[in-house]
Amino acid sequence: MEKIKTMTLQWTGDSLILIDQRFLPLEEIYVECKTYEDIAKSIKDMVVRGAPAIGATAAFGYVLGAKQFQNLLDKNTFYKELQKIKQTLSQTRPTAVNLFWALHRMDKIAKDNLNSKEIVQLINILEEEALKIAYEDIEINKAIGKNGEKLLNDGDTVLTHCNAGALATVDYGTALGVIRAAIENGKKIQVYADETRPYLQGARLTTWELMKSGIKTTLITDNMAGWVMKQGKINAVIVGADRIARNGDVANKIGTYSVAVLAKRHGIPFYVAAPLSTIDVETKTGEDIPIEERSKEEVRYCHKVRLVPDEVEVYNPAFDVTPNELVTAIITEKGIIRAPYEKNITKLFEL
Ligand code: MRU
Repeated sequence: MEKIKTMTLQWTGDSLILIDQRFLPLEEIYVECKTYEDIAKSIKDMVVRGAPAIGATAAFGYVLGAKQFQNLLDKNTFYKELQKIKQTLSQTRPTAVNLFWALHRMDKIAKDNLNSKEIVQLINILEEEALKIAYEDIEINKAIGKNGEKLLNDGDTVLTHCNAGALATVDYGTALGVIRAAIENGKKIQVYADETRPYLQGARLTTWELMKSGIKTTLITDNMAGWVMKQGKINAVIVGADRIARNGDVANKIGTYSVAVLAKRHGIPFYVAAPLSTIDVETKTGEDIPIEERSKEEVRYCHKVRLVPDEVEVYNPAFDVTPNELVTAIITEKGIIRAPYEKNITKLFEL
């Protein structure tokens, strides 16, 4: 059976090894997941994060779960276990739709082959599907890059928020993939990275992976974005997405909305780079997107350093929704979507 090894994940056939993103950039630690429960914990605890990476990881979790129950003789009992595995994995994080998309895809393969195949054969088919999801993700990101890089000019400086790079996908990245593709095409591009409180994906992950790729990157704290734009330092904003509603509203890391408002104020294009698997046509508008609230500790601390006592009340939404009117374009593997979003998204999905 084929294997895969990228910066984010490695499939060994019996386990999934993840780079532990909680410790980057100061420590490079790896976590080996041998069961679907290990995978669920790794997604929940953010060992792995970023919508496409979560989706691919969950698909491998489904395979590991299937392997745990391979000795069951009865196919119906086996399928019931698969449903429980799907349920457990789908309860890890609520906002990124790629998680549910990948699990749905795995479940469909299981259902379609259940009657005609033996359990051992079915497990092989499931493993092939998970690998397909992972390999496809890399190709999709490269296609997003090719489509998106046309929007950038030689010499541009791009502001990004959170981490929508290789670490948030199986490889290459969505927003950072566009930057990579522009550079591969000979354009000189540099990046400003928002630190992205409270989890610091921008400070810890984006600067780390861009530095590794030799891409010039300047780190700013979140509250500096407006001033940096005002000074004329930014030509475009590119971010990823966790879920895009049918009307083009975009859920992404908390703080994205503020950046979009600032970009509008300064006449800077605001682009969202995402695969079609992030567009949820079942979700009508951003108001219907579930927004994850995470532990108050993430705000009371700044990366392990306590800032305030427990008595200080905290609100910690992990995502926000940027309304479609602030989005200049959505860059996908199938091309660039512009307003009117509802009409153009519907057309793309041939609904
Ligand atoms: O909480 P996280 O780190 O999983 O949030 C990640 C983001 O918001 C990313 O911007 C999004 O998933 C796109 S990743 C290509």
